Amino acid sequence: DLVVPFRGKHQAGITTAVQQHLYFASFDMTSTAGREELKSLLADWTAAAARMTRGQDVTDEGAVGGGPYKPPDDTGEALDLQANALTITFGFGPTLFEDADGRDRFGIADRRPKELVELPSFAFDLLEDRFSGGDLCIQACANDPQVAVHAIRNLSRIAFGRAQVRWTQLGYGRTSTTSKAQATPRNLFGFKDGTANIFGSDGSDLATSVWADDSDQPWLDGGTFLVARKIQMLIESWDRVRLEEQEAIIGRDKGEGAPLSGGTEFTEPKFDVFSTKAGGPAIPMDSHVRLAHPDHNGGARMLRRGYNFVEGNNDLGQLNAGLFFLAFVRSPQQFIDVQRSLAKDTLNEYIRHIGSAIFAVPGGIRAGDSVGSGLF
Ligand code: HEM
Repeated sequence: DLVVPFRGKHQAGITTAVQQHLYFASFDMTSTAGREELKSLLADWTAAAARMTRGQDVTDEGAVGGGPYKPPDDTGEALDLQANALTITFGFGPTLFEDADGRDRFGIADRRPKELVELPSFAFDLLEDRFSGGDLCIQACANDPQVAVHAIRNLSRIAFGRAQVRWTQLGYGRTSTTSKAQATPRNLFGFKDGTANIFGSDGSDLATSVWADDSDQPWLDGGTFLVARKIQMLIESWDRVRLEEQEAIIGRDKGEGAPLSGGTEFTEPKFDVFSTKAGGPAIPMDSHVRLAHPDHNGGARMLRRGYNFVEGNNDLGQLNAGLFFLAFVRSPQQFIDVQRSLAKDTLNEYIRHIGSAIFAVPGGIRAGDSVGSGLF
């Protein structure tokens, strides 16, 4: 049984070796909630999250210890399951500080990091409100899906009357890796995903690209920004593409995950290698890896921690499936720069961004403290 410490310098669930399953929830504060409700909600969430990440029920009385005459404090479906590396990570959306009508509902407008604003729109965006935005978010990751679902279910229940779920996302398989000890998983296009990620052991890369230590808000020290994008993948169209072309679109080979400029999975891509067969650069100009690479984005990198999702089929029998893309960045600009370069990506013919959200993720929660205490 694996217990990931809940408290520390940074929140867990960012550099933590990526767990197999995800349940993610975005919340809005209820219309009647004020500053005191936000404060008490964050304190209650912290206490429950600390317990659940240790594999315990949400309270001492829990699922069966509260006597027969009241509904149990804990919903009980994780009773016989262990912690399963559960991590619970909290984030704050721009609307928590100032809502769409410009109101400062909780008296915290001056605590908003200046970079915490809605993302701009990008080429090919087909965003839907029902998959986008939110005042608060909780990312629950675990190696057992029921443990992650139990965590979000109980935190939503605790929020009753103060905040309500706006949208959720279930992810059944990681598409990233943050530890060299983990094998690189595959996304639903069948390619290894996460090869060129920032790893939990890359201290200097984390310092330059992930931790927002010098933002304008001290409460964000040890924290980061989280960009979430729900990306539908047009699986049936992709499956009809010749292997050679699939590889040219990504810029890596499908079996090994090696860059088309040669070598093995972890060989650095070389963008000046010419291929007679391709009649141009071995890694095509409009391939995903070339356009997303730091060399072509002023050095911008990100810690990707996304998950595959499948949500049944549409009326034509096609899969509703894709990638729930999650990236942790020191500044949202890193994501914006890369996503703008990807406007030329040939992959765009096979994907659609349908949801988007951005959150500021506060630093680690110290002993005796609650998440977000620095907001008040
Ligand atoms: C790399 C797939 C969306 C940023 C990769 C790789 C694959 C892949 C197969 C190569 C392996 C690796 O290094 O991880 C996909 C698919 C997407 C998608 C299927 C959509 C469904 C995005 C988005 C972004 C992004 C939206 C950011 C705006 C990156 C970056 C790399 C990468 C930064 C590493 C590039 C490098 O340094 O070599 N992606 N990706 N990807 N992707 Fe994506």
